[in-house]
Amino acid sequence: MNAKQAARRVERLRREIREHDHRYYVLDDPLVSDAEYDELMRELVELERRFPELDSDDSPSRRVGGRPLDSFASFRHPTPMLSLQNVFGDDEFLEFDARLQRELGGKEEIEYMAEPKLDGVALELVYEEGKLTAAATRGDGLTGELVTENARTIRVIPLRLETPPAGTVPRRLVVRGEVIIKRRDFERLNARAADRGEKTFANPRNAAAGSLRQLDSRITASRPLSAFFYAAGEPVAEVESQREFLDYLAALGLPVNPLPRLCRGPEQVLEFYRELLARRFELPYEVDGVVIKVNSFALQRRLGEISRSPRWAVAYKLPPVQRTTTVRKIVVQVGRTGQLTPVAELEPVPVGGVEVSRATLHNQDEVERKDVRPGDRVLVQRAGDVIPEVVKVVDADRPGRPPPFRMPESCPVCGARVVHEQGQAAHRCSNVNCPAQLKATLRHFAGRGALDIEGLGEKLIDQLVERGLVRDAADLYRLDRKTLAGLERMGEKSATNLVEALERSKRTSLARFIFALGIRHVGEHVAGLLARAFGGLEALAEADVERLQAIDGIGPEVAESIRVFFGQPENRRLVKRLLAAGIEPRPPEQVAGGKRPLEGQTVVLTGTLSSMDRRTAKELIGRLGGKVSSAVSGKTDLVVAGDRAGSKLDKARRLGVRVIDEVEFLELAGRQPMLPRS
Ligand code: IVH
Repeated sequence: MNAKQAARRVERLRREIREHDHRYYVLDDPLVSDAEYDELMRELVELERRFPELDSDDSPSRRVGGRPLDSFASFRHPTPMLSLQNVFGDDEFLEFDARLQRELGGKEEIEYMAEPKLDGVALELVYEEGKLTAAATRGDGLTGELVTENARTIRVIPLRLETPPAGTVPRRLVVRGEVIIKRRDFERLNARAADRGEKTFANPRNAAAGSLRQLDSRITASRPLSAFFYAAGEPVAEVESQREFLDYLAALGLPVNPLPRLCRGPEQVLEFYRELLARRFELPYEVDGVVIKVNSFALQRRLGEISRSPRWAVAYKLPPVQRTTTVRKIVVQVGRTGQLTPVAELEPVPVGGVEVSRATLHNQDEVERKDVRPGDRVLVQRAGDVIPEVVKVVDADRPGRPPPFRMPESCPVCGARVVHEQGQAAHRCSNVNCPAQLKATLRHFAGRGALDIEGLGEKLIDQLVERGLVRDAADLYRLDRKTLAGLERMGEKSATNLVEALERSKRTSLARFIFALGIRHVGEHVAGLLARAFGGLEALAEADVERLQAIDGIGPEVAESIRVFFGQPENRRLVKRLLAAGIEPRPPEQVAGGKRPLEGQTVVLTGTLSSMDRRTAKELIGRLGGKVSSAVSGKTDLVVAGDRAGSKLDKARRLGVRVIDEVEFLELAGRQPMLPRS
């Protein structure tokens, strides 16, 4: 290959790779496999190595990182990177609004942009003639560190701006935004680090900040960084408001968060705050507040700034999801499958809006890794609507610490021997008749997603098991009012209520019933898949591993676990006894109230949804009765189009396939949409 041919080939490869990057990272709709992509990238890197004169700063090969630096150069921001004043509570926000009203002397309500405050690390980008020429951290607000090579490895950051539909690429653009790591990527990153025996990160923000400030950009390239941009670092002549600015950035190909909402007056802002508070854990990334900005740039200029903060914006924080507190003691719980879980009992602290007094330590390996001991100060967090967990010990060097925690050798409940299988994290009680296992099984059986037996709480279950009144779930249905009324803290009224609740629980769906059985690895979602696939218990109980694995969404481990469950005579006996007690699980078609508006439809997802990640969206479509397909064709019944939907949306329109947006999709699912109709 001569230099001229190489130049042509390099140009072509760069174009193709850019297109694939865009489809993969922005549209979430790749055209080629990872292997094919890697092949293109390898060829490009090789050609650039052989023909150094073709080297270019905006080549996608820069995404893989280059030679390490000795230190970062400093970078003076064109205008200072300001910080935000906080407001604490609705009243303070209303005062802020009232003050602006007074200062602006306007009669009308002020228009604000309410945006999620992304919990990451700030980054400034400079584009010249459409090319990324510099990227800098915030530093002290006046001067930051130049991290251009690292920024180039972040896939969502364009190395070149796109030409907006109406207009041209600006000669110069300085934008600011937040580098983040999505929750799922963060979990994978930490799991990988833990596997290798490396240090894990305390939270996605620390991981993002640490990754951005690597002297070796190849390390940055290996981290799953993402970003959203939201502010100008220099006046932008093309637009007159924050809303227009965000749209302008999106048109230039920069990643822009889809959630910001234009609010007329303070009440709508508070509404946005409440919605974000309710849905924060459904978002694929962490947010720690709402940033509220006066929308009009003209008004922003009039308001100006004081002492390093703009007067036209404030942050209204969400309650923190990480707090420090003290471990009172470490106890060991025995679960449904006999698994022993160490749990830290804590001095109660409010975390993310609820009082937390216990946090899981998962298993012996985790306790060892984190080395949590009684009396330690620990950082605890709620990462979702799940059980809080201990992140780390903050005072590990304090004197007089008790010795490290060890799992007991006998079950804390029944005293049987605890077994620890080689290569497994879990310790288990070896006694299948351990009352703790039975109690946990019953709690699960009566729980919300299962048979939902109102009034059958933990304390009552303890009594029923300890007095030998209940030996398995089927025994629950033999309890009569008189027996129940004789128990502690039970009266005639509560006994009657419980008998009625038990009676009601007999009318349930097949999916709930399967879930209630507590088969290992069978959560609500898998139970739904099984109910739909088999339509009845006999067929499920007889299914072999191959048949089970043929179901979309069921892997070998789950299939094996189901087979093992139904392979045990006592489990089959239990199911028989439950059915004999009068439980009538209805197959999916007849589920009253369980709406399946997408029954039998083939659905294609395209673009990015802001309220949930792709996997959740697919699950939801499944639960609504639909089947998810990846390509739009004549067989497609419906397309759910998220933000920046691309060619699939065009094709759907051409074929006349019904298209709905995220808001309509959520409505269909009976969920309250968080977004305004666009
Ligand atoms: S605007 C002058 N918008 O919060 C206003 N900041 O304390 C500059 N942040 O350093 C910031 N999400 O790192 C703005 N939607 C958002 C934001 C946001 C997160 C961070 C940013 C900034 C800090 C302000």
